[in-house]
Amino acid sequence: MSLVELSRVTKRFGALTVLEDVSLTVQKGEIIAVLGRSGSGKSTMLRCINGLERIQGGEIIVDGIKVNDPDCDLRGLRQRVGIVFQSFNLFPHLSVSDNITLAPRVVKGADPKAARELAREVLRQVGLEDKLDAYPDQLSGGQQQRVAIARSLAMHPKVMLFDEVTSALDPELTGEVLKVLEAMAKGGMTMILVTHEIGFARRFGSRVVFMHQGRIWEEGAAASTLAKPGTRELETFLSAVLH
Ligand SMILES: Nc1ncnc2c1ncn2[C@@H]1O[C@H](COP(=O)(O)OP(=O)(O)O)[C@@H](O)[C@H]1O
Ligand SMILES: [Mg+2]
Repeated sequence: MSLVELSRVTKRFGALTVLEDVSLTVQKGEIIAVLGRSGSGKSTMLRCINGLERIQGGEIIVDGIKVNDPDCDLRGLRQRVGIVFQSFNLFPHLSVSDNITLAPRVVKGADPKAARELAREVLRQVGLEDKLDAYPDQLSGGQQQRVAIARSLAMHPKVMLFDEVTSALDPELTGEVLKVLEAMAKGGMTMILVTHEIGFARRFGSRVVFMHQGRIWEEGAAASTLAKPGTRELETFLSAVLH
């Protein structure tokens, strides 16, 4: 069974159709790189997958949960689907440890000691074990983003969604975040990531999905599709991003 399945999804904001007939199947362990110009519907697609937006047509199923069902267990869904945005959204008044353990304590009832061990474990995964008691403003942007990733990992998600997580960072800090994503990819995490990092998509992506005007315009194996786009739109997009 596939882990994430979108079937003929339509999403509208009022009269504006933002996703049209979007179908995508993601298997466990796949790394899907989502590319496309600003406004093509990439963020909206991610937000629909973890139930942050309602859809008007079609169906989304994540790990057996029907996301568009009115009785959908949204809490259960969000435990399975981690999402990390461009802006890190850490709580400035909470330590790194408390930022990470807030949700596990509230949602899963983890006790403080176990929660702290959990924080240590996920910080190790992003290479920041020594920052357990730091506050967000004592960290670089790249480190804050790695904490945001660790916070998602603390819920032990089945799939991670990343929305341009390196776009607000300097090239140097981008590299350290990409290293974390690379380690997660190699560890077998299922990932759907919206990114302009074509090199990363080529090396670690199982597939690329190119969105254009709310549709999946082109989809294929990452390396071959990026080397030889099948549509003029993807070709234009790639030359704009790469130059
Ligand atoms: N909450 C919203 N209300 C109205 N329109 C929205 C909303 N969110 C996104 N849109 C519109 O949906 C389209 C796709 O947006 P988005 O998914 O953010 O694109 P991308 O992430 O590819 O840049 C854009 O035209 C955007 O203006
Ligand atoms: Mg976006």
